[in-house]
Amino acid sequence: MLKRRVLLGAGGAVATGSALAWPIWVANHPLPTAAADSRTAAASAHILRMGKAAMASPRQAAEPFTVRMPVPPVATPVRRTADTDVYEIALKAAQVEILPGTTTPALTYDGGFTGPTIRARTGRKVEVTYVNRLDSAANVHLHGGHVPPQSDGYPMDLIEPGASRTVDYPNRQAAATLWYHDHTHHQEAERVYRGMHGFYLIEDPEERQLGLPSGRYDVPIMLRDAHFDASGGLILDVEHPEARSTLLANGRPLPYFPVDAAKYRLRLLNSSIHKIFELDLGGVEMVQIASDGGLLPEPVGRTSLTLAPAERAEIVVDFGRHPVGSKLVLSDGIGPVVRFDVTRKVTDTARVPGTLRPLPMLPSPAATRRVKLGVAPSKTAYAINDLTWDENRVDARIPEGATEVWEIYNADTVDSEFGGIDHTFHVHLVQFQVLDRDGRPPLPGESGHKDTVLVRPGERIRLQATFKGWPGRYVYHCHMQEHNVAGMMAQFEIVP
Ligand code: C2O
Ligand code: CU
Ligand code: CU
Repeated sequence: MLKRRVLLGAGGAVATGSALAWPIWVANHPLPTAAADSRTAAASAHILRMGKAAMASPRQAAEPFTVRMPVPPVATPVRRTADTDVYEIALKAAQVEILPGTTTPALTYDGGFTGPTIRARTGRKVEVTYVNRLDSAANVHLHGGHVPPQSDGYPMDLIEPGASRTVDYPNRQAAATLWYHDHTHHQEAERVYRGMHGFYLIEDPEERQLGLPSGRYDVPIMLRDAHFDASGGLILDVEHPEARSTLLANGRPLPYFPVDAAKYRLRLLNSSIHKIFELDLGGVEMVQIASDGGLLPEPVGRTSLTLAPAERAEIVVDFGRHPVGSKLVLSDGIGPVVRFDVTRKVTDTARVPGTLRPLPMLPSPAATRRVKLGVAPSKTAYAINDLTWDENRVDARIPEGATEVWEIYNADTVDSEFGGIDHTFHVHLVQFQVLDRDGRPPLPGESGHKDTVLVRPGERIRLQATFKGWPGRYVYHCHMQEHNVAGMMAQFEIVP
C-alpha cells in the first residue's frame, strides 16, 4: 500500500507539473475564461501523453549540514498603542543568500527570503501597512487568520506598485502558528516560490500557562523545496516539480542547528507550492502539540509526520534525552532536511502536559455542502465542483454565524484519466474540525482545529466549521498553489 502510494505520488507530481506551463503564460497574458478553459483542456491532454515521464535526476545544490539554520527575525512594531501593534512591511525584490557564497534574486517581505515573524497576542490587534515596492500589483493573505474581508488578501484585491495598504488583524482567535504569503491571482505560486512567505505567531495566556518550551526553545521552521540554476537563480519549472530537490529550512539548504539538551517547540510549516513532506527524526519521538489552528486536545507521540503544503505541525522534541554531541536528523522521503546538534547541558523546566486544549462541543450543523476536487467533465484536473475560478460567481452563500459540514471528495481516483492527484483543501476565515476520513476517525495530528487538509486520491473527508465573522467574500482552494493558479479555487460569501 505504502509503496503503491509512493509510486503514484511520483507519477502525480509529473502529471501535475506538466499541466502547468499555461498558468504562468496566462499570468502574463490574461485571457478570457473560455480561452483559459480550452488551454486547461489542452494541458490536461498533455498530462495523458506524458504519462510517467522520466524524472529529472535529483541533485542537491549544497553540501548537507554546512550552514547554520537561521531563525527568522522577529518584526518590530513601528508603533504601539493601547490595544494595537503597528507594523510596516515592504514587498520588494532583493538579493538573498540561500546557497552558501551565492546570491539569489528573490521576491521578499522586507528583504529576507523568510519574511519577518510577526508575534501577536490573542486580544491585542495588529495593524500592518504593506508597501508594494514590486513592479507589479500584489497582496498579502494571512493564512489561518480570522480577519475581515478587506484585510484577507482576496485574490483580486490588489495593492498597486508604489501604493500601500493598511490591514487589520484582530487576533480574536486562539494561539496558533499562522503564516502570511502572496495571494495575487495567477501569481501566487510564483511569488511564494520566490520568497513571499513569513510566519505570524499568535500566543495566548492559557497556552503560556501550560509551561511548554518558550523563548529560545520555541523555534519556527519553514520547510520547502527549491530548484537552483548554476548561478544560484531559482528555477520554477512547472513541468518538473520533482526537480526542486534542494530542501530548505528557514531559507537555507540542509542546515544544522545547535540545540541545548532540552525540550524544544518546533513550529513546522510547509510553504512549498507543491511538495508534500514526509518527515521523521530517525525513529526519535516527536510529540505533536499543535496543528494549523493551534493546540491539539492532547499531545500525540509520533515517529513520522506528513506535512502537505500550507499545513503546520508543532512538535516538541526532547533533546535532553540525548547526550551532548548527538546529532539528530530531520529527514524527508527524498533526504535530510535539517540536523539538530546537541551542544550543551542545561536545566530544563519546560513540560508537555497531558491535556492541552480540550475541544469545545460541536454545535449542530445547519447545512451540508459537497465539494468535489479534481477531474471535471471539461477535462481539467483542477476543478472544484467541476468549475474553475470565476470571480463573478459565488459558489456558496453562508449566513453569518452558521455552522456547516463540508464533505470534501477528491474525485481524481487512481484509475481516473489523471492517475490520482493529491490535493489539499484550504478555506479562508475559519478553522474547521475534521469529523472523519472515509468514515474513519481523523488522523492523529488532525484532532484539533485546522484550516488545510490533505485529500488523497479518492478520499472523502467531512469537516465542520462555524462561519462567524464579517459579511463579504472569501476563497477556498487547493493549496498546491500550482493547482490554485490553474483555477482550482472557489469562493463563499458571508451574508448578514
Ligand atoms: Cu495560504 Cu488562500 O491561502
Ligand atoms: Cu488562507
Ligand atoms: Cu490540488
